[in-house]
Amino acid sequence: MSIPIADHVREIPKSGIRDFFEIVQSMADVISLGIGEPDFVTPWHIREAAIYSLEKGRTGYTSNLGLPRLRRAISDTVQKATGVRYDPNGEILVSVGVSEAIDIALRAILNPGDEVLYHEPCYVSYNPSVALAFGVARAIPTNAEDHFALRAEALEAAIGPRTKAVMLNFPTNPTGATLDRSQIEALAEVCIRHDLTVLTDEIYSELTYDAREHFSIVSLPGMKERTIYLHGLSKAYAMTGFRIGYACGPNEVIEAMMKIHQYSILCASIMSQDAAIEALERGEPAMLRMRREYELRRNYIVSSLNEMGLECFMPRGAFYVFPKITSTGLTSQEFSMNLLREKRVAVVPGTAFGKSGEGHVRCSYATGLDQIKIAMERIREFCEEARRQRTRSAA
Ligand SMILES: Cc1ncc(COP(=O)(O)O)c(C=O)c1O
Repeated sequence: MSIPIADHVREIPKSGIRDFFEIVQSMADVISLGIGEPDFVTPWHIREAAIYSLEKGRTGYTSNLGLPRLRRAISDTVQKATGVRYDPNGEILVSVGVSEAIDIALRAILNPGDEVLYHEPCYVSYNPSVALAFGVARAIPTNAEDHFALRAEALEAAIGPRTKAVMLNFPTNPTGATLDRSQIEALAEVCIRHDLTVLTDEIYSELTYDAREHFSIVSLPGMKERTIYLHGLSKAYAMTGFRIGYACGPNEVIEAMMKIHQYSILCASIMSQDAAIEALERGEPAMLRMRREYELRRNYIVSSLNEMGLECFMPRGAFYVFPKITSTGLTSQEFSMNLLREKRVAVVPGTAFGKSGEGHVRCSYATGLDQIKIAMERIREFCEEARRQRTRSAA
């Protein structure tokens, strides 16, 4: 006798990244450009807030929506970033990472068979999260020539009779893509005309470089009422292990998400919420220091990759580059596996982020510059050898 697994769960493939990292972990001496989390430890004053929380004996549940002071801090932060004011009492929910916020937002709005569009390559959880909410996920491919922008025309062409929502993620994991205000305005116009709900995952918004300001779709007229704004502290504040995210949206949507959250999760951990208050109220200088460091690394990695013939544009956000590797004659999977075996450098095959990632690999620069420099040298050797091999086979 075996316990039968639900069909919609059985059909979901395992994440390609997980298999790959199991191999990485079994090997010694690997430099990893594969990880999607900051190499920085959470700034000390934020860790101290969590320790102090425990010392004070704050070890219980909180309100399902999250601590009121944290919701006020989120409201202020989001207003500063987007110009949009969310009411801490009813328009904000604190979640267990953005991961939970994505899940409950989709479960709250989708009826079985409703379609959700997303731009691809994209974060690995989007497609399965839609399927787990009984929705139908439909990818809109983007490409390197267009710096992985989602064009309004492409969005409009993908809309069908069952399309209910679109998921946006700028700056994008895995490409680092960002959009200009005019491109975002064009997307908003399509969403309004077709009455779509927008889930915007802005987890990397603080990590925007070249002194540019991140611009959110929710800032545009007519968008607050149709947008679920998702954000969290994992990336910009180096707080992945604290598991704090949040969703802001119209009261009826937050109420619906709350129902799922209260029965499945109850609340995010109280000491993590205390630490998040510290991060949002006093963490900006530390966050800006990390951002400066990421920007230096980005400049280095992009010029090194281009010099060695792995074309990539200068991404303006997140901490990833997505170079094209077709000049080596290898597929994304071959490139990543061979590089790992032969040179002990881990990068993620672009196909882990959807079919349109073929021909690319994701390199994260959330790794110290010393390590990045060694990795670049190893990748350079690897590419030279692969190209020599290719010329020999052709001769
Ligand atoms: C685009 C994107 N959204 C959400 C997440 C999940 O973040 P969290 O740690 O807040 O669950 C990630 C993590 O890599 C991500 O890249």
